Amino acid sequence: ESTTVVVIGAGPAGLTVANLLRRSGIDCVVLERRSREYVAQRQRAGIVETRAVRMFDSWGLADRVLGGIPYDGILELRVDGESHLVSDNDGSEGPRARLCPQQVLVQKLTAVYLADGGDLRFEAADVSLHDLTGDRPTVRYRTADGALRTVSCAFVAGCDGDHGISRTAVPDGALTAYAQDHGIGWLTVLADAPPPAHPLLAVSPHGFAAHFPRGPQASRYYLQCPPDDHPDAWPDARIWDALRTRLADPALPVGPITDRETFRLRSLVHDPMQYGRLHLVGDAAHIVSPMGGKGMNLALHDADVFARAVRDAVRDDDDTALRSYSQRCLRRVWNDQEFSHWLTRTLHDAGDAAESGPFHRNLARARLDRLLTSPAAAHAFAELMTGLDLTE
Ligand code: APR
Repeated sequence: ESTTVVVIGAGPAGLTVANLLRRSGIDCVVLERRSREYVAQRQRAGIVETRAVRMFDSWGLADRVLGGIPYDGILELRVDGESHLVSDNDGSEGPRARLCPQQVLVQKLTAVYLADGGDLRFEAADVSLHDLTGDRPTVRYRTADGALRTVSCAFVAGCDGDHGISRTAVPDGALTAYAQDHGIGWLTVLADAPPPAHPLLAVSPHGFAAHFPRGPQASRYYLQCPPDDHPDAWPDARIWDALRTRLADPALPVGPITDRETFRLRSLVHDPMQYGRLHLVGDAAHIVSPMGGKGMNLALHDADVFARAVRDAVRDDDDTALRSYSQRCLRRVWNDQEFSHWLTRTLHDAGDAAESGPFHRNLARARLDRLLTSPAAAHAFAELMTGLDLTE
């Protein structure tokens, strides 16, 4: 069997690559380890930034793949109980950011791709990559009923996340990993409870907390916790108590909790994002600390750069864009890593003197003060939120 591109993984990165290739008339096969039901349920990020909305719009896909609830681009920063609004309005024209939970985007991308006749194979086991530096790489896998299959292709898109097999197919030493553990844990909670008016980030002496809208009657919450905390340490009553204290809202409405998880905040970049005919896209290439909501948006950016580059190569026999794929993506990756790192440090250090020490607490307070008083600082923040800062 033969195709032009084999896409490994059907998360936001892989499904976006597949849809954009399909719209360019380029054949591809998507291999996903899990079932369709499993992939559709995975809960993660929730903001599709302005740049990414316009990217989908430019492909004629925005209305078909974006859902969720309307968003006016305003964030609330609550510092010791005092409320401040920050806007992502950077003065640019065009459609703007959407509050679209990742699983809604994934469900819609899957449906659109399949409705357009796309080839998507769930429950593909033991995927392995071969001859990545030759002219025709091959991808092997096993179907749900145990049959071995081989697909040859011109390019492989490794969109299988941080624990996928694509990156492990690259020989040791070919990629450099830049890793950062922020020494911070987060508890994330999903509940059927009323959403806030705006996504809310709160600084308090008891630690960072956040409250995000997930639907008309659904919310996602974050609570800073020790880096190796276990969700069992957080029974419902403790969660609501901590949220009321840190959000400085004694009347915070509660609701049934449907999910709780803990994780460590970390950042990771692999450079370059390509090896031979394999291109790493999204989490397979980089992890960004969740603060700032850039993880999914970076995956969407990589997918767009990759799909356009493949289109140039296949249609016009021009591989310039493919050769600069990594360089172009990494520029935005580091820009967003810096934003996310800055916001992570600012919102945690400003509240928690015990962890970072009083000097860093005062630095973080000064950064918040600047953001909330200087129009130039507010504009720079808006540019980083929308994702329109880099000349493309
Ligand atoms: N073979 C096939 N598929 C695989 C394999 C494998 N060996 N390993 C993983 N996968 C699949 C996973 O099941 C998943 O569906 O690859 C997909 C990877 O999806 P994500 O982890 O969601 O990564 P990505 O698409 O890059 O999404 C970007 O942005 O909001 C952040 O981290 C968040 O996942 C999000 C990311």
